Amino acid sequence: MPVLLLLFLLSLAGALVSSADDGHQFAYQGFAAANLTLDGLATVMPDGLLVLTNFTLQTKAHAFNPTPLRFLDRTAPNSTAAAARSFSTSFVFAIVSRYDGLSDQGLAFALAPSTNLSTAIPGQYLGLLNATNGTASDHIFAVELDTILNPEFSDIDSNHVGIDVNSLISRKAKPAGYYGDDGAFRNLTLNSQQPMQVWVDYDGQARQLNVTLAPVQEPKPTIPLISEAIDLSTVLTDPMYAGFSSSSGVVPTHQYVLGWSFSFDGPAPSLYFSKLPTLPRVGPEPRSRVLEVVLPLASALLIAAVLAVVGFFMWRRRRFAEVREDWEDEFGPHRFAYKDLFRATDGFNNRNLLGVGGFGRVYKGVLPASSLEIAVKRVSHDSRQGVREFVAEVVSIGRLRHRNLAQLLGYCRRNRELLLVYDYMENGSLDKYLYNRDGLTLDWPERYWIIKGVASSLLYLHEDWEQVVIHRDIKASNVLLDSQMNGRLGDFGLARLYDHGADAQTTHVVGTMGYLAPELVRTGKATPSTDVFAFGVFLLEVVCGRRPIERGDHSSRVLVDWVLEHYCNGTIIDTVDPRFMGRFDMDEVTLVLKLGLLCAHPSPNARPSVRKVMQYLEGVQPVPDVSPSYMSYSMMALMQNQGFDSYVTSCPPSGTSIHTVSNGSAATVLLDGR
Ligand SMILES: *[C@@H]1O[C@H](CO)[C@@H](O)[C@H](O)[C@H]1NC(C)=O
Ligand SMILES: *[C@@H]1O[C@H](CO)[C@@H](O)[C@H](O)[C@H]1NC(C)=O
Ligand SMILES: *[C@@H]1O[C@H](CO)[C@@H](O)[C@H](O)[C@H]1NC(C)=O
Ligand SMILES: *[C@@H]1O[C@H](CO)[C@@H](O)[C@H](O)[C@H]1NC(C)=O
Ligand SMILES: *[C@@H]1O[C@H](CO)[C@@H](O)[C@H](O)[C@H]1NC(C)=O
Ligand SMILES: *[C@@H]1O[C@H](CO)[C@@H](O)[C@H](O)[C@H]1NC(C)=O
Ligand SMILES: *[C@@H]1O[C@H](CO)[C@@H](O)[C@H](O)[C@H]1NC(C)=O
Ligand SMILES: *[C@@H]1O[C@H](CO)[C@@H](O)[C@H](O)[C@H]1NC(C)=O
Repeated sequence: MPVLLLLFLLSLAGALVSSADDGHQFAYQGFAAANLTLDGLATVMPDGLLVLTNFTLQTKAHAFNPTPLRFLDRTAPNSTAAAARSFSTSFVFAIVSRYDGLSDQGLAFALAPSTNLSTAIPGQYLGLLNATNGTASDHIFAVELDTILNPEFSDIDSNHVGIDVNSLISRKAKPAGYYGDDGAFRNLTLNSQQPMQVWVDYDGQARQLNVTLAPVQEPKPTIPLISEAIDLSTVLTDPMYAGFSSSSGVVPTHQYVLGWSFSFDGPAPSLYFSKLPTLPRVGPEPRSRVLEVVLPLASALLIAAVLAVVGFFMWRRRRFAEVREDWEDEFGPHRFAYKDLFRATDGFNNRNLLGVGGFGRVYKGVLPASSLEIAVKRVSHDSRQGVREFVAEVVSIGRLRHRNLAQLLGYCRRNRELLLVYDYMENGSLDKYLYNRDGLTLDWPERYWIIKGVASSLLYLHEDWEQVVIHRDIKASNVLLDSQMNGRLGDFGLARLYDHGADAQTTHVVGTMGYLAPELVRTGKATPSTDVFAFGVFLLEVVCGRRPIERGDHSSRVLVDWVLEHYCNGTIIDTVDPRFMGRFDMDEVTLVLKLGLLCAHPSPNARPSVRKVMQYLEGVQPVPDVSPSYMSYSMMALMQNQGFDSYVTSCPPSGTSIHTVSNGSAATVLLDGR
């Protein structure tokens, strides 16, 4: 005990001395007097709580210690290279999401050569770097507390601690948790609303970095969560700023730092939980006791008031009535109140109508509490059957996270109606830019960027998520453009899930005419390969700026056939959208057209997987030539309609008229399959 007391007094003394120690050591038990250098959303509350992000979306936040630190020891024996000094730092943080259990971007302890990170971007880049991969000249070192699984950064899960060096692809990462004294691992949930403490210790001599995590008020675990051999002298430069970086994504989240200490050449001063600012309460206000006392006295008055108000509420109740069943409890956080959606969209006012799709009307809205912009899709359904499965799917789809997917935030149910709530995309859908005749268009590099984005989201759905997700309705009008013109695949209302390895279920044929693979029409069985087919048609659509089936007076032109014909004639470049005015990269355009034909191959075996598609698009592999025995889509359709035997065409001789289909229509169709 006396030893502990002595240690305590020593560390206390250390903490008091620290402020005078010219940046070699500091301890902030709350940040009221810290004079941090803040930018973006970061603010310090009057009680000293550092709030990195509030409910403003897609914005960065930085908070740095105002004085830079010298990490490189130039007095080291080796005069040609400076060694990085040993340091220790510790901080207490908490992540509080508006929707319990729905996580958003995390935060990071960061060392950076400047406090000006204006070139970094928010979202999954955590305000540290941007889409150009970091390089050694960035000198960014970070310990990330990441609450999202980003496949593009090879994240291990959606709740991990990682060491990042000039890249968001962590050099080493572990699921969040800590080792107890018994050596057993205990899980921690980063966005559990509970404060947690992190220690980052670097030994300059042994060139070893340890990262340790624990619930607040627990002593520092003796076994670190991560222990990594790393030489920071090759990463850091002089001077460096130490601090925190964070960004908000699409789920309104508060990220707090309660206290922080730092020291060179020795343990970081202790943080005292009792001295740290407290977190704001979450949840409803507790009931006032005054009311309980006054209630009996004023009961008569209240009853009168209640009677007067009852009528109003009965009216209101009907107006905002929802359908809610017991089984939905498990989906609680994803459920929106109809009242909120009603208010957000001004009562589903036609002024807020964004569009009318095959399955319902879509409205723009702003959630009053968070000012989050949303798109609400109203889908009517006839039967009560299947609603439960559908909602379960909606919720698991809501857990999909990828920067090229339109985020599904949740749902609400009313009588015979389901409301799906999506993140709002300000630039609307891609088809608007492809078919709009008043000049609004996209140049080739923009279209190519969108194509690659959509391909990467499809790869995520097919191969990188925990379940295979078949989208079933890939088309230009389902690709939405965010504020930075990234393509985001939307409208999963139709997608059905099935486990990896399991057989695809046969249900209704759902999709849009012109994008339906021949075997899908025949068997009603959606597979990753039928998605690839639709993606192939989508590629041609984007390059040619034409709809998959264009109806003329007497006949319809099937885009795949038309491009194939030009390909066979060696005039494929003639199919490119004239609105490029000849300004496009010939090789890229040819690549995408060939890839489109390959993906839209009538035989599923001939179509590449999405992973292959990504490799072709990235130029890792050349696209193989389209085989001469390519059976065109409309021939297939004709055969099906008219019961022809199997029939294979070669490239048609030049001058052959274009195949036609009689029932071509670009509207969404539902066919009953068996
Ligand atoms: C706070 O920091 C700014 C520069 O970041 C400096 O100009 C100012 O004097 C500091 N204030 C105090 C009280 O230290
Ligand atoms: C979030 O913080 C920023 C910067 O302090 C402020 O401008 C903005 O109004 C805040 N937004 C919300 C929703 O609190
Ligand atoms: C001194 O630094 C150089 C360059 O980093 C290295 O090659 C050499 O081995 C070092 N010498 C010693 C004694 O550490
Ligand atoms: C940050 O750097 C950019 C250029 O990289 C500059 O335009 C901007 O003014 C700087 N901001 C501050 C606050 O110094
Ligand atoms: C990305 O960040 C680097 C510095 O880290 C900067 O040089 C580059 O200009 C940035 N790129 C963009 C597109 O902002
Ligand atoms: C970024 O790095 C990753 C992995 O190292 C690589 O796959 C990707 O192509 C790089 N992107 C760019 C734009 O250099
Ligand atoms: C900790 O989390 C992992 C993965 O999330 C899980 O497999 C494991 O069962 C959890 N352990 C405990 C003790 O909860
Ligand atoms: C890191 O942890 C290991 C135990 O895993 C320990 O031996 C080493 O001293 C620690 N290093 C630092 C810098 O704390």
